Amino acid sequence: MCEALLSRGGYETIFAVSRQRDLSISQASTTPRSEGATSTLQTLVCDLTDEASLRSVAARVEAAGPLTLCLCAIGKLSDADSDLTPERSLQSQSQAAFETLFHTNAILPALIAKHMIPLMPRTERAVFAALSARVGSISDNRLGGWHAYRASKAALNMLIRNYAIEQARRAAEFIAVGLHPGTVDTALSLPFQRNVPKGKLFTPHHAATCLLDVVEGLRPDDSGKVFDWQGKEIPA
Ligand SMILES: NC(=O)c1ccc[n+]([C@@H]2O[C@H](COP(=O)([O-])OP(=O)(O)OC[C@H]3O[C@@H](n4cnc5c(N)ncnc54)[C@H](OP(=O)(O)O)[C@@H]3O)[C@@H](O)[C@H]2O)c1
Repeated sequence: MCEALLSRGGYETIFAVSRQRDLSISQASTTPRSEGATSTLQTLVCDLTDEASLRSVAARVEAAGPLTLCLCAIGKLSDADSDLTPERSLQSQSQAAFETLFHTNAILPALIAKHMIPLMPRTERAVFAALSARVGSISDNRLGGWHAYRASKAALNMLIRNYAIEQARRAAEFIAVGLHPGTVDTALSLPFQRNVPKGKLFTPHHAATCLLDVVEGLRPDDSGKVFDWQGKEIPA
């Protein structure tokens, strides 16, 4: 997402916030789409489980000027180290899996929203977008399974709807959305790529470019909804 934002230009400062000290974000191949619109990249380390750490990120972001876009790209589906794998039946559910996935997919994005949305302007367009997943849709669920992941993304989608309602009272141009990136060739999808039809596994760059196009086209009416990489609304 950061590389796609850099190549797009138009944002004065881009903060790449991660728990990792060394992020490999390539700036070499990035030519801004519009002239004179180059962005500066700053990487910040943040421990999302520590609100003091989030507060210090917020202070750095605030010092750079009004925040007009916050993209939350964290998420978890499985974890080989702790035998956490998507459930196929209710018998395979575990407290640990629910706690881990709700923590990463709903609670941490909520804390990011808590500290970032207040930095957004009241009168200009500003977007809070969190990477969600189509499987978080309740009405679109025809296959079942993946209990903890689906439920944690449904919780995230509910939070997004709540922020949209709450912020509309404060800032008419504010937009909060969930985004489904498609199936993307990342560590998250790697164990589940076997059945992905040919041509349906996107590169991270392609998915990020599509999602930024979607973000650019959003209007305040779209706030509270979830969209896929093509800009199609995913029902709640
Ligand atoms: N890939 C797909 O096919 C797909 C499909 C639908 C939806 N999504 C959603 O897209 C988003 C991005 O996924 P991805 O495919 O890019 O997966 P990924 O490569 O595994 O990236 C997940 C990111 O989340 C961060 N993260 C996880 N737990 C964290 C924690 N406790 N604290 C801080 N950061 C944490 C990871 O940081 P570290 O690098 O520090 O671990 C990593 O940057 C997720 O929300 C996912 O659910 C992905």
